[in-house]
Amino acid sequence: MNPVLLLLLFSLQATLSHATTAYPSIPGTTPVDVSSGATATNLIPPRREVHGNGRIFDISHRYTPDMPAFGSADGVGQFLWLPYSMKNGSIANNSEMKLPTHTGTHVDAPGHFFDHYFDAGFDVDTLDLDVLNGAALLVDVPRDKNITAEVMEGLHIPKGVSRVLFRTLNTDKRLMFQKEFDSSYVGFKEDGAKWLVENTDIKLIGIDYLSAAAYDDLSSAHLVLLEGREIILVEGLKLDDIQPGTYSVHCLPLRLQGAEGSPIRCILIK
Ligand SMILES: *[C@@H]1O[C@H](CO)[C@@H](O)[C@H](O)[C@H]1NC(C)=O
Ligand SMILES: *[C@@H]1O[C@H](CO)[C@@H](O)[C@H](O)[C@H]1NC(C)=O
Ligand SMILES: *[C@@H]1O[C@H](CO)[C@@H](O)[C@H](O)[C@H]1NC(C)=O
Repeated sequence: MNPVLLLLLFSLQATLSHATTAYPSIPGTTPVDVSSGATATNLIPPRREVHGNGRIFDISHRYTPDMPAFGSADGVGQFLWLPYSMKNGSIANNSEMKLPTHTGTHVDAPGHFFDHYFDAGFDVDTLDLDVLNGAALLVDVPRDKNITAEVMEGLHIPKGVSRVLFRTLNTDKRLMFQKEFDSSYVGFKEDGAKWLVENTDIKLIGIDYLSAAAYDDLSSAHLVLLEGREIILVEGLKLDDIQPGTYSVHCLPLRLQGAEGSPIRCILIK
């Protein structure tokens, strides 16, 4: 069973800034023209996928009850409550969150698949921010296969590249926008994971569905990738509508002591 995390969210500040045109292919995105002036009745906050005039891409998924949860047909479900509300006479709204730590865009710590690492304290708070931030390559994986040794070899990722975001068929199939979990997602096969560990300098692996390991190799591929405690897995990334190439990636997990997973906010900067 997944451990859960409980957080209190304080002081939500609604800031209306000028909206940029968001990518139309991201569901739930509603570009809002506030240049005409927001009034009390049309206070609609912009939800953006791209910031800074196309320079900053948000590659994290929005947390919603309908987003997929690993192994479930019903999605994440309700994860936010409002125990203190202004409508109930409280001086402020204070919501509460309960969420499996491997939900949506999230990071895995070595303790996820290694019990002795878990016991030793290799939690998300111990992950190296130097690995999670820096130059990254976004690559397109051939759409007809899982990530095998052959596929890895064919990607010709140069030595020295340490952060790679793998865009796969998962993005084309919009799996992260579907409530029902799909076990046919693309991920690393055990031999692909081994090839990566043995032949590349990759330390940050980003992938576009809930697991870096293919469903049939769920344990074996995770074990290969996490064993050395050098590779960090960021899963459930939103890589739609971004050109392949080199970016600066910035991923920040929550400092959840004792947790082997955490929601993570990731952005790419051109
Ligand atoms: C405060 O809570 C009320 C419900 O009591 C809700 O309608 C309102 O949108 C909340 N305000 C903010 C800023 O979240
Ligand atoms: C107000 O409080 C009651 C009782 O605690 C609760 O059932 C209700 O959901 C609350 N309403 C809001 C808007 O938070
Ligand atoms: C990837 O592997 C899964 C099983 O883990 C399988 O269901 C799926 O069809 C494979 N995808 C491709 C494109 O081969």
